[in-house]
Amino acid sequence: MIFKGSHILSVDQFTRADIEKVFTTADEMRPYAQRECITRVLNGAILGNLFFEPSTRTRISFGCAFNLLGGEVRETTEVKASSLAKGESLHDTARVLSGYSDIAVMRHPEPGSVAEYAVASRVPVINGGDGPNEHPSQALLDLYTVKLEMATRGQGIDGLRIALIGDLKNGRAVHSLCKLLGMYTKVHFKLVSPPQLAAPEEIIVALIAKGHRVEICHELEEGIHHVDILYVTRTQEERFENQEEADKYRGLFRVNQSIYTEHCEPNTVIMHPLPRDSRSAAKELDEDLNQNPNLAIFRQTDNGVLVRMALFALILDVADKVHDYVHPVTWYTAKREPVPNQ
Ligand code: CP
Repeated sequence: MIFKGSHILSVDQFTRADIEKVFTTADEMRPYAQRECITRVLNGAILGNLFFEPSTRTRISFGCAFNLLGGEVRETTEVKASSLAKGESLHDTARVLSGYSDIAVMRHPEPGSVAEYAVASRVPVINGGDGPNEHPSQALLDLYTVKLEMATRGQGIDGLRIALIGDLKNGRAVHSLCKLLGMYTKVHFKLVSPPQLAAPEEIIVALIAKGHRVEICHELEEGIHHVDILYVTRTQEERFENQEEADKYRGLFRVNQSIYTEHCEPNTVIMHPLPRDSRSAAKELDEDLNQNPNLAIFRQTDNGVLVRMALFALILDVADKVHDYVHPVTWYTAKREPVPNQ
């Protein structure tokens, strides 16, 4: 794909070569994310960060990524704090806000809403999550993490064995990650969910058509045997019609240290797009795993900044100029090297 000026709406836009380009660019962002030096390559540029659904990681890390490249961020959160609450259309919102900024990130509860917004936007738009549909930047950072974690074990992504666990019906991060992994070869997918929360049929059919092995599991213990990665997800309660319906699935699949020790291979990497639901009735990924060196969830969140910086640098066509605008860091900086149990 041509990154310059492009909207990023779906992982379907990417080829393997595109993914590698994002990852190579992300590698180059590490000194800036770790505050070894700063770059002002986007000095004067403005990001419109529009989050019409709750977010901690995606909103803040996109904002920080833009700041780390030297740009400014303006944002709005929640429908009720914007003029969408007064009946303004996505078209008009996009037309207005694209007069104020150079690029936008948008999250919205409706599938297809970010694509609809992008039609009217005069600047590139990145999908920060559109309902249960897709979450492309999350999938890219997840795959980047998979690549780095597997590299420490002398393996690549081809031939990966991965268990995706939880609400696979509504989990947009799962949908996007499955599509990205589908571009590699001979991946063994174990899709572990209650039957009612199974992954969309079209995703499963597409993976099988590409020659991947797809196993459907309804029992946690059966699903987490003999895999390289556990990708655990929370029940997406906000997608259910009512709380009573969501309550049926809370706490059904819980990965904790004793389950891990009993059923997983010793080096199995544990991932989660976060947030994990730490309320006592849920706990799909127990905090007793926090000291497990294979828990990669906070390495994922750190990697998210690198990947989002890379997307901005490629779309705004400054990837080869980032190092030309470098300054020393003048303030105290905490050490940010990943440590084994983080
Ligand atoms: N993974 C993710 O999208 O997290 P937030 O909802 O906190 O942005």
